[in-house]
Amino acid sequence: MLHQAAQRVQRVVIRTAVGTTVVVGTVEWATHFPSQGRSSQFYHDLVDHIVTPTMRRILDPETAHHAGIFFAEQGLSPRFRPSALEQRCVVSNSVFGKTFPNPIGLAAGFDKDGEVVQEMLDLGFGFVEIGTVTPQAQPGNPKPRMFRLVEDLGIINRYGFNSQGASTVEKNLKSFRSPQPIDSAKLSWPRYIWNFLYPPRHQSGLVGVNIGKNKNSLDAIGDYVCNIRQLSSLADYMVLNISSPNTAGLRDLQQANSLRVLLTTCLTTRNEMTHRVPLLVKLAPDLTDEELDQIANVCLEVGIDGIIITNTTNHRPADLLSKHRGEIGGLSGKPVKDQSTECIRRLFRLTDGKIPIIGVGGVGSGHDAYEKLKAGASLVQVYSMMVYQGPGVISRIRHDLATLMLENGQRSIVDVIGADHEDIFWRKREERIAQKRRRDTRISIETLPVKKTEFA
Ligand SMILES: Cc1cc2nc3c(=O)[nH]c(=O)nc-3n(C[C@H](O)[C@H](O)[C@H](O)COP(=O)(O)O)c2cc1C
Repeated sequence: MLHQAAQRVQRVVIRTAVGTTVVVGTVEWATHFPSQGRSSQFYHDLVDHIVTPTMRRILDPETAHHAGIFFAEQGLSPRFRPSALEQRCVVSNSVFGKTFPNPIGLAAGFDKDGEVVQEMLDLGFGFVEIGTVTPQAQPGNPKPRMFRLVEDLGIINRYGFNSQGASTVEKNLKSFRSPQPIDSAKLSWPRYIWNFLYPPRHQSGLVGVNIGKNKNSLDAIGDYVCNIRQLSSLADYMVLNISSPNTAGLRDLQQANSLRVLLTTCLTTRNEMTHRVPLLVKLAPDLTDEELDQIANVCLEVGIDGIIITNTTNHRPADLLSKHRGEIGGLSGKPVKDQSTECIRRLFRLTDGKIPIIGVGGVGSGHDAYEKLKAGASLVQVYSMMVYQGPGVISRIRHDLATLMLENGQRSIVDVIGADHEDIFWRKREERIAQKRRRDTRISIETLPVKKTEFA
C-alpha cells in the first residue's frame, strides 16, 4: 500500500518535472521571453532572417517603418543578447558628463516622437536619440518620401521633419521617465501569464532629443529655443539638427556667422534652465574643408558640448546601382559610411580632440563602429543598416566590437577613441593618467588618519 503510494508520488513528480522542462525549454528556445530579459537566438534569427526581409519585400519603406514601431510597442521586438566577451572589456564611457552604458546608440529619425524609447534600449542600444522634434506638429513632405536602395544597402529619405510636435513628445518622454505600473486588469490573459512568468527586465540607457524648426517658421532660432525650454528637463542631451537636407534653408545655419548666433542663443537658454542639459549640434557630410574648419572654430569658441557627424548626404556616388538613386532627399547607409568617417577624422583633428563626437553613417558591423571610434568618435549611432540586417544587428555590433578590442589589446573603449591620431591620442591618455593620479592623491590625503598627538 505504502509502496504503491510512493510509486504514484514518484510518477507525479517525474511527469511534472518533465512537463515543466519541456514547456520552459520550448519557451526559452523559441520566444523572446527567456529568463534574464533577453530573447532566444531562435527569436533573433526569426526576426532578422525571416520577418525583416519579408517586411522589406511586401511593405513600402514607410509602412515597414511604422510596422517596426508597432511591433516594438507590442513588446515583440527582440531583446538584447549579452555577449560574454563584452563582459571582459569596459564599454561604458563618460561623455559630456553622462555615463553611457555602451557606445552604440540609435540615430535620430527612427523614433521621431519618442514612442518606443524603452523598447529600443531593450534591443541593446546604450542610448536612443529621438526626433527630429519640431515645436508644432507638422505632417512633413508628401508620400512617397523614403526609398530603399537595396543593391547599395542605402536609403534615401525626404521625410521633411514629420513630427507630432513638442507637446506630444513631452508626454511620451514623461511616461518613459516615470512608467506606470502595469495594470493587470487591462492585459489579455496570454500577456498576463507571460508577464507573471517573465516579468519584463529593462535595459538602462540614455535619451537624446534631436530638435529642429517648423517648415513655415519665420524664426528658426526661436524654434530651437522653444524646444529647449519645453524638453530639456526630460533629455540626457539635446541635438540642434541643422543638417537635414529636406527643410529649405536649414543647412544655411551651418554658416559660421549664423551658427555662432544660433549656438550662443541656445547655450544661453540652456544655462538659464535648472536642468543644464548637454547641447550638441548635428552636421552634414557635405561640408567643404574650409566650412568644417570654420565650424570647428565656432564650436570651440562657444563651448558646445558635442558634435554629431554626420546626417544624410546630398551627394550621389557614381557607383550607385539602385533605380531609386535619382530620388531627391538625403542618402544614408553604406554609401555614406566612408564619407562620414572621413568627416569625423577631420573634425577630431580640427578640434584637437577637445569636443566629443558622436559618429554616424553606414554603421552595420563591429568593424564599422571600431573604425569610427578610432577616427575620433566617442560614441556611434546606427539607423539604415538596421533596416537591412534587422534589430539583431545591435547585439552583433556589440559582440564584434568587443572581439576587435580584445584582439587589439584594448580593454576599455577609451583606448580606442581617436587611436588613429597618435599625437592627440597619447596626449589625451597622459592627461587622463595625470588626472587619475591627482584624484588618487587627493583621496589618499583626505582619507589619511589624523594623529591627534601631532596637534597636541
Ligand atoms: C528614414 C530616415 C529618417 C531620418 N530622419 C532624421 C531626423 O529626423 N533627424 C536627424 O537628425 N537625422 C535623421 N536621419 C539621419 C540619421 O539620423 C543618420 O544621421 C543618417 O541616416 C546616417 O546614419 P545611417 O547610415 O546609420 O542611417 C534620418 C535617416 C533616415 C534613413
